[in-house]
Amino acid sequence: MDQYVIKGGSPLFGEVTIGGAKNSALGILAATTLTEETVTVNNVPNIKDIDYLLLALEEIGAKVDRKDSHTVRINAKGISPLSLDNEYLRKIRGSYYLIGALLGRFKKAQVVLPGGCNIGNRPIDQHIKGFEKLGAKVEIKHGMVMAEAVELRGNHIFLDVVSVGATINIMLAAVLAKGQTIIENVAKEPHVVDVANFLNSMGANIKGAGTDVIRIHGVDKLHGSTYSVIPDQIEAGTFMIAAAATHGDVVIDNVIPKHLEAISAKLVEMGVGVEEKDDAVHVFCRERTGNTHIKTMPYPGFPTDLQPQMTMLLALSMGTSVITESIFEARFKYVDELVRMGASIKVDGNTAVVDGVESLTGATVFASDLRAGAALVIAGLTAEGVTVVENIEYVERGYEGFEEKLTQLGGIIKKMDSEDEKALRKFKMKVS
Ligand code: UD1
Repeated sequence: MDQYVIKGGSPLFGEVTIGGAKNSALGILAATTLTEETVTVNNVPNIKDIDYLLLALEEIGAKVDRKDSHTVRINAKGISPLSLDNEYLRKIRGSYYLIGALLGRFKKAQVVLPGGCNIGNRPIDQHIKGFEKLGAKVEIKHGMVMAEAVELRGNHIFLDVVSVGATINIMLAAVLAKGQTIIENVAKEPHVVDVANFLNSMGANIKGAGTDVIRIHGVDKLHGSTYSVIPDQIEAGTFMIAAAATHGDVVIDNVIPKHLEAISAKLVEMGVGVEEKDDAVHVFCRERTGNTHIKTMPYPGFPTDLQPQMTMLLALSMGTSVITESIFEARFKYVDELVRMGASIKVDGNTAVVDGVESLTGATVFASDLRAGAALVIAGLTAEGVTVVENIEYVERGYEGFEEKLTQLGGIIKKMDSEDEKALRKFKMKVS
């Protein structure tokens, strides 16, 4: 198993370029199965979760041509909707988008229940409610979601909870349904808008993405398209927090500053310098940050996917901060690891109370999920001495070239085999 070994204490300086949004790309690549024509997707992040989805698409008969590390051409003419279960689909969350897409195209889908980060109970009842409202019969049997319809008909669907996954999945099923579908109380995340824009580029008729209500007029057929995925809001936010936590000065390029408003506002409140440019943000921090309170909310609120990284920054800030996690109840698993590094954080249910300390000290810590792993890496970059972050598979699944990008910015971080004690000793000697 690989691990990151980090020597803390070097502020991050320079420029970093943000890649395409993971969660957009997963929706968009699944959506390519809605047409028999060829689709080219640009700015696809080169990460494991995308590899898994592309391998899964190939296994069901799609022609997948990776033109370069960020461009994929897909033709899904020959795919079969039957019994999609393989190790790749079981690993990732985004595989659930194949249920909506295949149901839309074939009126039938059998897909294994999705995997993904273990951050709490992750039901898909709202996805199922949407498919049923469109006329499908849906059952969960032997770990598979089985959905089937004679025909899909537009309907009025009200989501009981704001769900990114359900919003996108119902859109995927509804674009080829007969008549009009209205989905209310939908998620407004940038990647919901991106998937809707992509579907519209294929000939769909979706209006209102980015607002509370999405209206879809079903069309008979979708056609091929060339499309570019938006920049990853969460990767950008992670580097913004890393710049602040290490007291660095970083220009984060290829971002849409509007998508980063919730994080920018909080950083500014804490005393961090944030300058917005057209497609970049400049983040700089010269002194210890102040406290703040955070409550994770659906977009445009503070994203749950930046909660661990922000809690890590607050662990080093002055005063007491309160973090309320209102999306995923089990998202504080990493807190024990930060405490091992000297943080003072108490968790009670969905709330964490952080008493800021002046510094953290290096320790061996375990990354329980993708964003928790990113938070621990940032903690390591700030800490005195050497930090070992174990179980980095999740981190590599969601961040392209994380280690390389941090190294370019002056961070001291190396990926190593956890069995290779000699390499670890050598690293420690070199940096001490
Ligand atoms: C997606 C993102 C994930 C992000 C999350 C919230 C992908 C692949 N993953 O996950 O990175 O953390 O959005 O921004 O895009 N819920 C239900 N029933 C449902 C669906 C969801 O009760 O049918 C609840 C969930 O338990 C959670 C909340 O709704 O409390 C939001 O979940 P959702 O937005 O669906 O998250 P995911 O799509 O799983």
